[in-house]
Amino acid sequence: MKILMAASEATPFAKTGGLADVLGALPVSLQARGEEVAVALPMYRSASPHLKDSERVYDGLAVTLGNTTWVCSIRRLIHRGLPFFFVDCPALYDRDRLYGEAGVDYSDNHIRFGVFAHAVLAIMRGIFRPDVIHCHDWQASLIAALIATKFRLDPTFYGIKRLLTIHNLGYQGLFPKTAVRELGLSQSVMHPSSMEFFGQLNLLKGGIVYSHAINTVSQGYAREIQTEEYGFGLDGLLRSRARDLSGIVNGVDYEEWSPEKDRYIATAYNTDDVSAKQICKRDLLETFGLPATHLKRPVIGIVSRFATQKGFDLIEEIADQLAREDISLTVIGTGEPRYEEMFRRLAETYPDKIAVRVTYSDELSHKIEAGSDMFLMPSRYEPCGLNQIYSLRYGTLPIVRATGGLDDTINERNGFKFREYSGPALLAAIRSALQAFKNPERWQELVRNAMQCDFSWNASAAEYSALYRRMAG
Ligand code: ADP
Ligand code: GLC
Repeated sequence: MKILMAASEATPFAKTGGLADVLGALPVSLQARGEEVAVALPMYRSASPHLKDSERVYDGLAVTLGNTTWVCSIRRLIHRGLPFFFVDCPALYDRDRLYGEAGVDYSDNHIRFGVFAHAVLAIMRGIFRPDVIHCHDWQASLIAALIATKFRLDPTFYGIKRLLTIHNLGYQGLFPKTAVRELGLSQSVMHPSSMEFFGQLNLLKGGIVYSHAINTVSQGYAREIQTEEYGFGLDGLLRSRARDLSGIVNGVDYEEWSPEKDRYIATAYNTDDVSAKQICKRDLLETFGLPATHLKRPVIGIVSRFATQKGFDLIEEIADQLAREDISLTVIGTGEPRYEEMFRRLAETYPDKIAVRVTYSDELSHKIEAGSDMFLMPSRYEPCGLNQIYSLRYGTLPIVRATGGLDDTINERNGFKFREYSGPALLAAIRSALQAFKNPERWQELVRNAMQCDFSWNASAAEYSALYRRMAG
């Protein structure tokens, strides 16, 4: 089948989180299964260095939204054996970041992703007509809504099925109602049965209402988002679409994330020789400026966007007690200033135990995966979560809160979990991990179990293939 994926991130072109990892790997895996797949992305500044061999396949594409006309071109790059289409419109995408700077979203994000949506429709009309248009998150949701409303009588799109994957219900693409006119949408979308949401325009809601099928990135999260606690105000709508809503857990690109071939880590290792992991641990401690004399202490790692979603308020609550344990903590992340400050403060208070890098670095994130003994993800909610799955392959045992994809992927044979969202529950889970670490035989068995877990994309890609076929009837 022909599948066109539309998304706002994909490695190696643009990344802020796990969405990019998924778009970098799932299409390749689907293609390997015999699907014909293409991916559409905005051409951000971070993509430019990769596009030297790209070809302009469409010039002078004019997108008129409200009173403004944006002229774009489309570039095609064959990457990992499949076409990636980049929507080139420097005024909108050639910026320092993907969505905003210094904690503030770009004020024209609705226009940026509105133009992107129209450009994807142009790709579907003239370059790649898919059987399924597979949209990811709010940034691509407008594509489904446009086809089902504004272009419902356009025969070009007849028969094309629309799938929305929700990677995170916490980000819905909410804009003031003036955006309706600015996006050239009909005022009729400002109705509760359409894209209206408490007086605002909700792009993700448009994706949910106007797609034939919807999925999320774990079965647990697919259930959770139908509850008030996790539904972010959309649980009623999602319950009403329950028949068309499913969960497919993300996979891992083991070419990128495996200690046997990781280009960033001090030495390669595998299940037969886990002792080499100690070399990575020493390297990690040195890199983070922690005393290597503490090699015997367990190292706990964190790699994360610093967002409320990730449960850092629990870490704040227990930090002083945690620092009294015989541990080292290495952290890399960026995001909300509140958590950046919190981690900086902790590193200053406990300099021989806690080290923090407030930055984004692929290299350091891989070093943490390999050099840590344990990996901490106490998320408030987690649609799938990738780092806990990466950690498994590195023999770095996850300590997670039992929610969403964390609950689905971690069990007592490969890690540690706690359910209640509270500091004491988190501390108890960490302490049971520390206890287990003291028993080398038990620990080695857990490490072996973890490293043997297989989350390669193949199985999940097969589920997507099956879903596309069900949709196509
Ligand atoms: P989310 O998408 O919610 O951020 P995931 O666990 O699905 O969470 O994926 C996070 C991805 O982003 C992983 O590939 C992780 O390594 C990466 N990542 C997050 N923060 C950083 C950072 N500061 N530096 C490098 N990589 C990061
Ligand atoms: C989102 C979620 C994360 C998920 C990722 C990829 O960013 O927060 O849990 O793993 O998307 O699907």
